[in-house]
Amino acid sequence: MSSVLIRGGRVVTAAGEYDADVLVEHGRITAIGEALASAGTVIDAEGLLVMPGGVDPHTHIDLDEASWTTADDFTVATAAAAAGGTTCVVDFAMQEPGRSFPDTLAKWHGKLERTPPLVDVGFHVAVTDLRRGGTLSDLAELAAQGVTSFKLFMAYKGDVMVDDETLFRTLEVGRREGCLTLVHAENGDVIDVLVKRALAAGHVEPRWHAATRPPLTEAEATARAITLARLAGAPLYVVHVSCREALEPIVAARRAGAAVWGETCPQYLVIDEAALDREDGAKYVFTPPPRTLADREALWRALARRELQSVGSDHCPYQYATEKAPAADFSLMPNGAPGIEHRMQVLWELGVRAERLTASDLVDLCSTTPARLFGLYPRKGTIAVGSDADLVLWDPEREVEISAATHRSRADYSIYEGLRVHGGARTVLVRGRVVVDDGDVVGDPGDGRFVARDRVPAGKSAPQREITPTG
Ligand code: URP
Ligand code: ZN
Ligand code: ZN
Repeated sequence: MSSVLIRGGRVVTAAGEYDADVLVEHGRITAIGEALASAGTVIDAEGLLVMPGGVDPHTHIDLDEASWTTADDFTVATAAAAAGGTTCVVDFAMQEPGRSFPDTLAKWHGKLERTPPLVDVGFHVAVTDLRRGGTLSDLAELAAQGVTSFKLFMAYKGDVMVDDETLFRTLEVGRREGCLTLVHAENGDVIDVLVKRALAAGHVEPRWHAATRPPLTEAEATARAITLARLAGAPLYVVHVSCREALEPIVAARRAGAAVWGETCPQYLVIDEAALDREDGAKYVFTPPPRTLADREALWRALARRELQSVGSDHCPYQYATEKAPAADFSLMPNGAPGIEHRMQVLWELGVRAERLTASDLVDLCSTTPARLFGLYPRKGTIAVGSDADLVLWDPEREVEISAATHRSRADYSIYEGLRVHGGARTVLVRGRVVVDDGDVVGDPGDGRFVARDRVPAGKSAPQREITPTG
């Protein structure tokens, strides 16, 4: 592959900003400095920020497990990711209850082969069943295949929800194998009671999605997952934190030195519960539900203070017209929304431009920390000699109005419809290949590939002493 020189830009990493040229050879960064020379392609980055490509640790692409079928395959979703400046996604390979982990992983590799990606893709395995199909020894083997994180759902009773034994045993494997355990933290049993009660009383509208998943159901499960992780001596990553009540146990655990990290998603920073009362409120049925304006502000503050350390998209595209709107009640609406393309733009507009975050904060939250936590750093998540040339030339003034008419997802709606944002990816490189040029996706399926991830260090604090017999 020929060399590419990115000339005259302002390099932004999690550590700070400076003016420099960046030389790329054979897909990697080989020099960063002033007035670099190159015989290859030169890309003028005057007036642009040169940032490491985004790493999105939370996507649901080509889901067809249980009752969930999402609209985007890997080619489509990763084209959308690239357009938004994301050069690596870590997607959930969902274990269908009864299916083994090797089969689950093989199934997801098959999807990736059939619809090749434009950006790099890693997999977490979502553990839904350790009694039929899924075994602890198979789980322990996944790290050798580059799958170094597991995800469990503490909600969605009767579907993919796990019990505490399954969560605890998975956490133990995570500690032993150097893998990070992710949790969707909501108390599924309580929610099930509240949903049944609401439906029996004839409450079917989207607003009851939020009313039956109050913040304390999220807080309780978050605190429980943290306690189980500490008992297992394992690191824990809490996905899509949506409210102050759930933030509290994360902050407290980190203060106590526990290896616990928290993620939020752009939708919780932009959308509040009032959206569910709109005529098209079904579009905003995602889980946890949108919360209050005070929660939104608390989440922004938590990001700035790094009480939350990561931002994922939770891209989970369903169709409004054919799937969400026709559902007879809120409990039958598929949960989730598209968002892979606009994660960094929303953070730029409402975070950096609104002076809640710096550009370095954005890089840290959307790229560097996810790369570190998920075994990709320093290959990805930074601009350094030797790192993959996954780069975004970000135009801070580029102005766009977000719309389903122009986004790349197949979803027929956007939760950000009509939102005008400044800032966007002008040029994007994946391991040195240009996949976005002047804002247009020009990459080919197959420019991205499966990325095997490293085992994950426990983090700033050593895991707690193991207090249970292993087995
Ligand atoms: O509503 C959501 N978030 N759907 C995707 C599945 C999940 O819970 O993350
Ligand atoms: Zn979830
Ligand atoms: Zn999700």
